[in-house]
Amino acid sequence: MAKFLVKNAGPLHGEVTISGSKNSVLPIMAAALLSDDPCTILDVPALSDVEVMCDILESIGATIEKDYEAGKIVIDANHELRSETPAELGQRMRASILTMGPLLARDGRTRASLPGGCAIGARPIDLHLKGFEAMGAEIIFDEEAGTVTATTDGPLHGARIYLDYPSVGATENIMAAAVLAEGQTIMENVAQEPEIVDLANYLNKMGARVKGAGTDMIKIDGVKSLHGTEHNVIPDRIETGTFMVAAAITRGDVLVKNVVPDHVRPIIAKLIECGCQVEEAGDDLDELRVRGNIKELKGTDIKTLPYPGFPTDMQSQFMALLTTVHGSSTVIETVFENRYMHIGELNRMGAGIRTEDKSALIPGDVKLQGAQVVATDLRAGAALVLAGLAAEGETEIFEIRHIERGYAGLVEKLQGIGADIRRVD
Ligand code: EPZ
Repeated sequence: MAKFLVKNAGPLHGEVTISGSKNSVLPIMAAALLSDDPCTILDVPALSDVEVMCDILESIGATIEKDYEAGKIVIDANHELRSETPAELGQRMRASILTMGPLLARDGRTRASLPGGCAIGARPIDLHLKGFEAMGAEIIFDEEAGTVTATTDGPLHGARIYLDYPSVGATENIMAAAVLAEGQTIMENVAQEPEIVDLANYLNKMGARVKGAGTDMIKIDGVKSLHGTEHNVIPDRIETGTFMVAAAITRGDVLVKNVVPDHVRPIIAKLIECGCQVEEAGDDLDELRVRGNIKELKGTDIKTLPYPGFPTDMQSQFMALLTTVHGSSTVIETVFENRYMHIGELNRMGAGIRTEDKSALIPGDVKLQGAQVVATDLRAGAALVLAGLAAEGETEIFEIRHIERGYAGLVEKLQGIGADIRRVD
């Protein structure tokens, strides 16, 4: 079983280039099912989650050409498609649920395995299904088989849909279903993440009529059919944030390239509050220079919220940083009910974090010690890598398959800015 060995090699220095966004490419790949023409997706990150989505689309009947060197995938769904993904595949990745909207819109039928909870929470899909139902779909649960089916006789119809929570996945799935519905769909209290805007831009390039993505209301005028397109996926803002924190936690000086500063404003703000210097750079202002060596870093408080609030996917990495600064900090996780699994592992390294209700209390002023730790989920694993870069001695990180789901070339990129990290089989 593979593991990472991480040692403190002092402040990180140099340049690192960010890959395409995992959480943008997955819904975009699923949405290729909406057209019979080939769709070319560029800046695709080489991730195991992308591989799983390829397997899922092929299991449905699409054909895929992959060239990870070039960061290019071509998806051709001009075939007789099956309406469901094999359970084994569906359960390997929650994002498989994002094929439901496109299949329902395209063929009037989709079945999926109910994606049980995961390490970070129960993660139901009730809001997705409520949206499909509002557009005329019939929803059938098969508890025994653990599946849910959505069917409709004839095309879906437009509807007014209010989301009880601005869910990213529900916004993406309902948007992908509504683009081929008859009439107008108005979605309210929707997610405003950059990945939503990227999906809407892609759908509009295919001939859809989506307006308002990036705001709390999206209007979609259904069209009869969609054509193929070519699209560059946005840079990964969570990978961006992770490398920004890597510079801070090692008190280094790193230039993070291929970024969209607007997508990481909350992270920039909190790093500056801690005492880092963060400057926009590059001719196109698509670079961020992060310096954690200007003055002593101090504690700050974090509360995770839907975008444009502080991203839950950066909570664990930031918590690792806050263990190493002067003074205490409080972190409150509001998006997922069980996203503190990394605390136990950081405490093995001497972090001394306590939890009280939804809050995590970080004392700060500790010298982390290398230890054997386990990655319990993707971002928790990233936090342990960052902690290992600042700890005394060696840190051994197990279950790194979680980390490799969401970070393309992490070891090489970190080594490129001076980190002592190795992947050991
Ligand atoms: C997306 O998950 C991301 N995944 C997650 O990133 C991210 O943490 C999350 O959005 C929030 O930003 C992908 O894009 C593939 P949600 P998603 O639906 O769509 C509740 C990572 O580390 N909810 O916005 O599943 C849900 O339980 C991953 O890259 C319902 O109650 O997130 C949660 O508490 C982890 N009913 C909250 O909403 C629903 O029908 C937010 O979930 C849907 C969601």
